[in-house]
Amino acid sequence: MSMFRHDIIIVGGGLAGLRAALAARDADVAVISRVHPLRSHSVAAQGGINAALGKTDKWEDHAFDTIKGSDYLADQDAVEVLCKDAPARIIEMERWGTLFSRTDEGMIAQRPFGGAGYPRTAYAEDRTGHALLHTMYEQALRKGIKFYEEWLVTGLVTNNGRCSGVVGYNIANGQIEGFLAIAVIFATGGYGRIYERSTNSIINTGFGCAVAYRGGAALEDMEFVQFHPTTLYGTNILITEGARGEGGFLTNKNGERFMQRYSPHLLDLAPRDIVARAIQTEINEGRGFEGGYVHLDLTHLGAKKIKERLPGIRQIAMDFANIDPIRKPIPVQPGQHYSMGGIASNKNCETSISGLFVCGECSCISVHGANRLGGNSLLETIVFGKIAGENAVKYAKKTDFEAPEALESGVSEESQQISALLDTTEGEAFFRIRDELKTTMNENVGIFRDERKLETALARIKELQKRYKNVYIRNKGDVFNQELVNTIELEGMLDIAEAVCIGALAREESRGSHYRLDHRERDDANWLRHTIVAYTPVGPRINYKPVNITMYEPKEREY
Ligand code: FUM
Repeated sequence: MSMFRHDIIIVGGGLAGLRAALAARDADVAVISRVHPLRSHSVAAQGGINAALGKTDKWEDHAFDTIKGSDYLADQDAVEVLCKDAPARIIEMERWGTLFSRTDEGMIAQRPFGGAGYPRTAYAEDRTGHALLHTMYEQALRKGIKFYEEWLVTGLVTNNGRCSGVVGYNIANGQIEGFLAIAVIFATGGYGRIYERSTNSIINTGFGCAVAYRGGAALEDMEFVQFHPTTLYGTNILITEGARGEGGFLTNKNGERFMQRYSPHLLDLAPRDIVARAIQTEINEGRGFEGGYVHLDLTHLGAKKIKERLPGIRQIAMDFANIDPIRKPIPVQPGQHYSMGGIASNKNCETSISGLFVCGECSCISVHGANRLGGNSLLETIVFGKIAGENAVKYAKKTDFEAPEALESGVSEESQQISALLDTTEGEAFFRIRDELKTTMNENVGIFRDERKLETALARIKELQKRYKNVYIRNKGDVFNQELVNTIELEGMLDIAEAVCIGALAREESRGSHYRLDHRERDDANWLRHTIVAYTPVGPRINYKPVNITMYEPKEREY
């Protein structure tokens, strides 16, 4: 059987995957990407990336804000790594060619962001992810990194608790191949698209997490799903927190700056969980506009500032809502934005499977705990991408390839499953099941949750899993068969949604992004712990592990 063979395989061509590839560049390394790397979701990040670069800022302050923002669920040893390494990683990106916005003195400019006690978010206008991803990709090309573009990884192959490679489906021609590797790094992004309203790219189905989960890696803290306060009403395209960082503010239909009631000190720049809940409360209590939105007002900032600092936002508002924010407020509503949960990992990016490393949004290291601060996700990709790459190299140097038999049987199993899908002659179209999943998640596992809603969602997911067994694919072709790709991913989306629901149902407290109307208080005595979910053929098995508290004892959050 033919197969590809590399010391290190990286699954995912976004910022985390590319940074890992650069760290591993002296080994035989290859990147498998579901889309062209420049179409990875990292490109959509807008507002910026955090680091204590300022004269009077310190990494300890950045760490404190991150831990407090996480509602004390973050592992503090990992947060220390993140915040200590941040300045070096940003300077590295700058030296590699990222054109950060500048102060009048020529320094890297930094803007205020939610939950931060210092303006520490560096940015490139409001297209920071775009600027960083293009730089990183240029560096990867310069170093001759090998890419397999438009391949969907459908299976993780393990043997006696060791990872020995992955199975890939070539979207361009339908070929199914094994990739034998000593070490594998997953950098496959988050699971936002299990929700109807999301800022995420449509590729963010969480399929990488699902493949790792079925392959034996545990998932962690899946119930913590971030809702960004300001997504464009109607399309849910991200409207960056940088807009509020530059001085924009929220108003309800009565023209009231309602954040005064929810966060008297930080107002519109409270952490996202608080601002998203505030907006949703305004809408639910009838102070939003018809249809369910509030206003983000930038008009007072003036044309010059908007054009210089927020040109992308202005373009989005004009193109998708026919509103020029220089003249009129932008209609916004909360939408799913980020997955705090992911594949369980320690600060070395290692998982429970030896030879499998993870980084970026698909991982739960956990530096964000129950709520991520804006500007920390881009940072996580480059700090932990580097660590994952370096540790994969160390591992590959002292380990050998596994015999190819497990990979061969993995390829044959995946081939049979794909053939079975293509052989279907009747049944239900995938998009009906997928769309029901998304609305179920939106309605029942959103900003405000309770036992009844979560049980409803779980029951519906189980029913959708049954219906999936009868899914039917009309397109039988080999070339860019998106119907097949979407159908394969849907099974993973159902697994992921189930893990989110069971974690949320079990966690009888409110912490960060997880707000239970029937358990409104944080409960450290019982719930200061991470949720771990393992796959078993008879359903998910739930477990818990302690939080690493090394610097700051949990306190009540006040903003
Ligand atoms: O609002 C934003 O620009 C998003 C930033 C982030 O999620 O880190």
